[in-house]
Amino acid sequence: MTEKQQIQDSPDEYQARLNKVLNRGHTMMTRIPELAAKVQREKHHVDWIDQAEVDSRIQKRRYTLAQACEMIGVDSKTLVEAERDALLPAPDYRQDTPNRMRAGYTINQINHIREHFGTAPRKPESMPCPVVGFMNFKGGSTKTTSCHLYSQYLAMRGYRVLVVDTDPQASLSFFFGKMPDYTVHYHHTIAPYLLEDEDSLEFAGFPPGSSQTLDYAVQKTYWSNIDIIPSCSKLLSIDLLSKSFIGLTDAPHASLFSKLRDGLMGLSDNYDYILLDGTPSLNLNTLNSILACDLVFVPTPPSMPDFSSTLYFVKLFFDALDMLSKDSPGHNVPVLRFFIAKKQRGETDDFMCSVIKSVFSVSDGDVLENSSPASREIGKTTSYTYTIYEENPSESSNRNGLKRACEEFNQLFDEMHDVVSQFCFSDISHRPPSIDITLDPNKHVEDGDREESSTLEETAHV
Ligand SMILES: Nc1ncnc2c1ncn2[C@@H]1O[C@H](COP(=O)(O)OP(=O)(O)OP(=O)(O)O)[C@@H](O)[C@H]1O
Ligand SMILES: [Mg+2]
Repeated sequence: MTEKQQIQDSPDEYQARLNKVLNRGHTMMTRIPELAAKVQREKHHVDWIDQAEVDSRIQKRRYTLAQACEMIGVDSKTLVEAERDALLPAPDYRQDTPNRMRAGYTINQINHIREHFGTAPRKPESMPCPVVGFMNFKGGSTKTTSCHLYSQYLAMRGYRVLVVDTDPQASLSFFFGKMPDYTVHYHHTIAPYLLEDEDSLEFAGFPPGSSQTLDYAVQKTYWSNIDIIPSCSKLLSIDLLSKSFIGLTDAPHASLFSKLRDGLMGLSDNYDYILLDGTPSLNLNTLNSILACDLVFVPTPPSMPDFSSTLYFVKLFFDALDMLSKDSPGHNVPVLRFFIAKKQRGETDDFMCSVIKSVFSVSDGDVLENSSPASREIGKTTSYTYTIYEENPSESSNRNGLKRACEEFNQLFDEMHDVVSQFCFSDISHRPPSIDITLDPNKHVEDGDREESSTLEETAHV
């Protein structure tokens, strides 16, 4: 008898197998962040990090004093004096060496110091918070990766970022330490707000009137300046629920489709950027997401299926705008910008890149100059649920590859940042300072670092 027949013959056994997988998966899902944190804990003294710890995940990337000072915008003497005078917490020291060497600073620590010195960058005061989406109906086109990395690129530079996961697959929520369907449920997502589902929020313990704003849905992450509105598989039900919702109301389409934007604008004062991770499907949720944005970046991998799906995305976007222009002119319309994603070197990709540019570029700048590289480092780091920006170069198995990937993503995000500044702040000089990603304080043998660390300690004891 074949295995298939056996399965057909005993459905109970088949269900028992599936149950086993689900139970194991459940256990692993709840343990992954804890295990990842444990591995990191063994490397460093983490008293200070523990305060910033959320959902069992920690920041592991460390920057040297010199790098931290450059990122903060103060000189090392000023920083060291503030630490010595207890205006700032004492620095962490490495536990893996008998020498007294600084362990370096995490981004959370750097952001705390930025706050102390008042050097954190902020969006122009008079401007609302830009809402930037990463969308394409093509699955796997790198929406989540791009959104995730861009949020960290901004947070590393000191901006306050809100990321909104609109995808029922909830990968972004997972990467930020949330457990979709385990610790994130329907009442934690944008759904009750979009569907005006007051009953579910009250049942979950929220005060009356909670469905009027998105405040109930905002959660902290282990990055002190990145908050998240998470997602879970229940967002799928928006599709089913929204049909009856649309049928039950006489409200014009625009008031349904502008709901998410209204909700996000209500949170705008607390952030410099709001980023949306899109879903590879079309429903009320997707239209709300697209129309909530000031700018939508459309990642387009250079392959024929990705190209044709991106065209389909443009077609649906066109149809939605057409419907809205008849129904409610004056509705917010996002600017679309395409960028080539997962680009490899070689003739095939070059050909598809020129196809993408010639089709999607009607005016200058419609397709970004920079692309995201296809990089094995992305896959490697996401397996450990950390990104290339969170990896210490000294711990990488391919330091050059990591450096190259960070540099290429930085170039892409610099350009995105220019586009956002141009459209949302009318100011392209708003580009954040670059960050030297080549060094970290965890190297064990390189002379430069030891020298630097001992110099730092001398400074510290002056
Ligand atoms: N630049 C890159 N180089 C190599 N692999 C990448 C790159 N960007 C993303 N990936 C990988 O491609 C896969 C799909 O990426 P991602 O989840 O970001 O796509 P998506 O558009 O969000 O997918 P979905 O439509 O399912 O939400 C992931 O396994 C990710 O690790
Ligand atoms: Mg995704």
